[in-house]
Amino acid sequence: MSFEETKSRLETAGQAHILQFWSELSFDERHAFLTELSQLEPEELKEHCRRAADCANSQSTSQDRLDQRMEPVPPEFIGSVRKTDEKSLIAWEDEGFLQISKSKVAVLLLAGGQGTRLGVPYPKGMYSVGLPSGKTLYQIQAERIQKVQQLAEQKHGSKCTVPWYIMTSEFTLEPTERFFKENHFFGLNPSDVFMFEQRMIPAVTFDGKVILEKKSKIATAPDGNGGLYQALVDNKVLEDMEKRGVVEKAYPAEPVGVVCRVDGVYQVVEYSEIQPETAELRGPGGELLYSAGNICNHFFTRDFLKDITENFRGQLKQHVALKKVPFVDKEGNQVKPTKPNGIKMEKFVFDVFQFSRKFVAFEVLREEEFSPLKNADGAPLDTPTTARRSLLAQHYRWALAAGASFENSSGEPIPPKHSLARDEDPPAVCEISPLVSYFGEGLESVLKQKAIRSPLTLDGKMT
Ligand code: UTP
Repeated sequence: MSFEETKSRLETAGQAHILQFWSELSFDERHAFLTELSQLEPEELKEHCRRAADCANSQSTSQDRLDQRMEPVPPEFIGSVRKTDEKSLIAWEDEGFLQISKSKVAVLLLAGGQGTRLGVPYPKGMYSVGLPSGKTLYQIQAERIQKVQQLAEQKHGSKCTVPWYIMTSEFTLEPTERFFKENHFFGLNPSDVFMFEQRMIPAVTFDGKVILEKKSKIATAPDGNGGLYQALVDNKVLEDMEKRGVVEKAYPAEPVGVVCRVDGVYQVVEYSEIQPETAELRGPGGELLYSAGNICNHFFTRDFLKDITENFRGQLKQHVALKKVPFVDKEGNQVKPTKPNGIKMEKFVFDVFQFSRKFVAFEVLREEEFSPLKNADGAPLDTPTTARRSLLAQHYRWALAAGASFENSSGEPIPPKHSLARDEDPPAVCEISPLVSYFGEGLESVLKQKAIRSPLTLDGKMT
């Protein structure tokens, strides 16, 4: 696309300032910039900027209204590990393994985020929370997938695959691909790991102008984890699932918000979008009214995803995040703002619940399922330290339950502790590789009546 054409398109969108440094750019910069800008549709861009500014300016009023319209999910639509008998839990687990053994389940991981709170310059999946083994989050998940395939195969005697779909973004695709290659896909078959990229959209000032990050680059950000549905279409992911026979799929990602109904429609509402008083509301028995926190671990059928991508993708709500976006000022100086100066619009993956015909929530035990990595160490919550502690506490419980006892490096016994506070380190360290046990199963043969010297790493090679 020529300079004139691009200029006229940007003028139509009310964004002519984007080219203000054109005369200072080199030949190569001009070429790359025009290529980038040619992807912006003028009408879409205009609408995007208008909507971003509108949303940012009307944010507080819509928050007030949401509180009035919220109600909890009725109890009959919430299952719970704690309130379910052992027999049913086992039956559900068996059903899960049966579906996995038929290669009908895939994992879809949302990994396109920038991980700004954690603050490392590489994708969060490549982070190690400091376990004795030094494993990264990607390696742990890869090994879990391997193990769950293996368990399903053992139970049902049929070879199966759990394909792993990883949504990345411009920030994370290249390093993630490289990391997997360097690590030989952590033992998975490379053809069962499918990485795809979500779209990026421009960041906008409070008065609706696209922010220039450099003289020849606009500031962009991934379009939120709800960009998933567009990315599924762009990259023909559902077609790949169909080819492989995947019917149902789950994807872990993470927390935010509370599962509830708004105007009778199932929805997840972020805590930041409601008033603190609403979050604190209690029911008649003193229980939290909005206790169903969403850990962003969802289970969708392929048909449902198809329905969303075909019929509802365009209806996903845009959420506004006010962020500090580096920019170039009028004189062309690069500035790192100290307070939010820009709007990033994000879609949320769970905003599709309202389009489902069947919806249930299932409450799991936090200590077994959920310890997110959000922040760098030093923050009070959701840090590498808390994530590592949760995992090691879980492995310690498994080891005790399998009949192990522990001793310190001088051979003195470490008395068992059967209940640990949430912020308490287990008294002994025993990291169990997912290749040895997926969920605490199968450990008796290795650990029963064994005195384990802490710290121990139980890895695949020991079985
Ligand atoms: P968060 O919103 O918690 O973001 O994403 P984040 O990137 O992990 O961290 P911050 O907010 O920048 O500190 C929840 C999940 O959704 C994915 C993230 O990779 C994470 O797994 N995500 C988020 C995407 O895949 N794409 C996005 O555009 C945003």
